[in-house]
Amino acid sequence: MSEEIKLYAAHFAEIYDGKTPRFFKSPGRINLAGEHTDYNLGKVLPIAINHHLLIAISPNGKNSSRIYSRKFDEMISIEHAELFSTANHWANYVKGIISTMQSVIHSEIPNFDLSIYGALPVGAGLSSSAALTSGIGFALNTVFDLKIDLLQMAKLCMQTEHDFANVKCGLLDPVACLFAKKNHLLVFDCFDYSTQNIPFNFEGYKILLIDSMVRHNLAQSQHLNECYDDCYKAASAVNKYVAPANSLRDVKMEQLDTVENMINKASFNRAKYIINEMNRFDMCLHAAQQNDLDTFGKSMFQTHHELDSLYKISCPELNFIIEQCKQNKNIAGAKMTGGGLGGCVIAIAKNDAVQNFIDEMQNAFYAKFDLQCNIYTLQSDDGVGEVV
Ligand code: GLA
Repeated sequence: MSEEIKLYAAHFAEIYDGKTPRFFKSPGRINLAGEHTDYNLGKVLPIAINHHLLIAISPNGKNSSRIYSRKFDEMISIEHAELFSTANHWANYVKGIISTMQSVIHSEIPNFDLSIYGALPVGAGLSSSAALTSGIGFALNTVFDLKIDLLQMAKLCMQTEHDFANVKCGLLDPVACLFAKKNHLLVFDCFDYSTQNIPFNFEGYKILLIDSMVRHNLAQSQHLNECYDDCYKAASAVNKYVAPANSLRDVKMEQLDTVENMINKASFNRAKYIINEMNRFDMCLHAAQQNDLDTFGKSMFQTHHELDSLYKISCPELNFIIEQCKQNKNIAGAKMTGGGLGGCVIAIAKNDAVQNFIDEMQNAFYAKFDLQCNIYTLQSDDGVGEVV
């Protein structure tokens, strides 16, 4: 048992009547290609990362469940027959995943004590909320043998975001968290739900995570909903006036051009980005598999450029980091990841240049924004699983 787990087990015993819990590890994710295409039924290319939450759980045989969050240092008690969201509270995700799971098993999940430990920054674009719902969902499924399969679990996690956090996200985050494998890229098709784990190593390079330190949690969710609506309007216009289209997955650029004057500019530009990003996907995947990081990196820069200019979800801090990356010959490519308006940039850096790059970036960021930006070297990791 690792020191980290020993420490949390002791804490769990202290707050929950001396009990010994089972532990589940639930990672964050980054997405390497297909950004924002998930809710437009495109393909995505995430990896799970070596930053995670730890879920400790033990059945309690009582009339209610107790949930503790180390991050917020708060304990709540919930009854499984009465699960409602309350504005902006971390526990909405917990209530939501219990509620959506109960709706598919058609019965109440037995009560339990649960603690959320570990470190995954909220609002950094690493999908802390999916790590929470997927981790808890997986833990409950295992402990109470509920027989919910992983794809259905991912859909329940997405449903939780829609119904309990009011965010119209897609399947990218929970699928990455539940299906990823260490040293593999996950290819997930949000239209037919097919998954593939493809070995990769980016030989000679490391993946860096550069945190812009900008957080706009509430604005981020509202903005994501706006993006969803804009994409939906563009697809609907094509469907009505040009050719059958269930989503932007079915739309070609010429068809979008035909409806340009029938939809607003934001809708048109966002749809244009989505179609471009979907068109880039197979080329990106091929380049990643061939370790052709020159091609892959250029495409990352292009994606970021369009996320800023067309999709309008970047911010000055993220753009500054990208500009620094572009000027550095040891960086193959970089782009923002996640919902946007802040959060992190991922950059592909040559192994032997990593430390210099980190120093230069931190100095430049500090000089510009008077703020220290955190930079991490990432490794890929396995998706959710029990720690044994
Ligand atoms: C957020 C959403 C995901 C996905 C990404 C962007 O993380 O929750 O569904 O759209 O942004 O790729």
